[in-house]
Amino acid sequence: MTLSEVGPVLLADLQAPVRDRLLHVEDELRRMIEADLPLINDVNQHLLRMRGKMFRPTLVLLADEATGSVGESADTLAAVLELIHLATLVHDDSVDHSVLRRGMPTINAMFSHQVSVIMGDFLYSRAVVELVRIGDLDALRVIGRVTNDMTVGEMRQLLAHDPLAFSEAQYDLLIRAKTASLISGACEVGALSAPPAERQALARFGDLMGRAFQITDDLLDYTADESTTGKPSGLDLREHKVTLPLIHALPLLHPAERQQVERLMADEAPQEGEIGAVIAAVTAAGGLDYARERAQQLVLEAEAELDVLPATPAREMLRACLAYVLDRRR
Ligand code: IPE
Ligand code: IPE
Ligand code: MG
Ligand code: MG
Repeated sequence: MTLSEVGPVLLADLQAPVRDRLLHVEDELRRMIEADLPLINDVNQHLLRMRGKMFRPTLVLLADEATGSVGESADTLAAVLELIHLATLVHDDSVDHSVLRRGMPTINAMFSHQVSVIMGDFLYSRAVVELVRIGDLDALRVIGRVTNDMTVGEMRQLLAHDPLAFSEAQYDLLIRAKTASLISGACEVGALSAPPAERQALARFGDLMGRAFQITDDLLDYTADESTTGKPSGLDLREHKVTLPLIHALPLLHPAERQQVERLMADEAPQEGEIGAVIAAVTAAGGLDYARERAQQLVLEAEAELDVLPATPAREMLRACLAYVLDRRR
């Protein structure tokens, strides 16, 4: 089977082989975030109600099954990965001034930015506590590294607001750090007991797929409706974030369109109309098509990494993840 033969893939298809294990992962996550303080519990309740896709835990479990499962301890690591993801989202929404996540108010919107900062730290440090309890230094090493990479990625993001000074190479460094590192880490910790060649191939698979995952996210920010994604659309431009469609389109824009981009980037509170006009210009210049092609290339490179794994149903599900990442709507 190759990627071109994989038809449309739903998240539920990817998760079907590990559905029972994912229920266990959710129990583990609930256990890890439990607290005594009512305010922390209020935030926890809200976080547990806003259900995400559980994509990273799914990767841990599929990587585990593709490399000869170690069983329940992988479920706990999968929960740690989702916990770190959650912490990042709580901080990211505060940094991005976003009010909607998973179709519900963000922590900064519902509580405050102060609560977001503290809760993000609470969730991160619970992940550390859990990793120390498990006592697996190898897992701690991988997860410690990727968690740190993500903070560097989010810092790079703060600097990425001048489209003239932001290159595709810098964009790639940014998305590898802020997003692909954790997705790569998920694939790798699912394969900690596998032969080194398989473990390293899965880490590279995750890096390549993770970059495609973020490019798709950036495309959805331009093209999708918030009722589908559960996140505000057009937020990247509103926040003056330069992503791949704009990087590619900018040199191709007419002078008047380029001025429109410059005005938007200088405007502290851009109007819907301004954002819509830049999206239309970027689309007409082929920025969206280019980003889609780039995601497709990355996914094909990722697919090649699967060749070293034994032929199993789980390996084919990892292949299907690639199709899902390109086609996902939310
Ligand atoms: C959102 O990740 C953050 C990005 C890296 C783009 P997901 O799209 O996996 O979000 P949830 O967990 O399903 O809400
Ligand atoms: C991904 O970037 C953020 C993280 C790695 C947390 P975005 O800022 O684009 O993610 P969304 O769109 O808010 O989910
Ligand atoms: Mg964000
Ligand atoms: Mg986004």
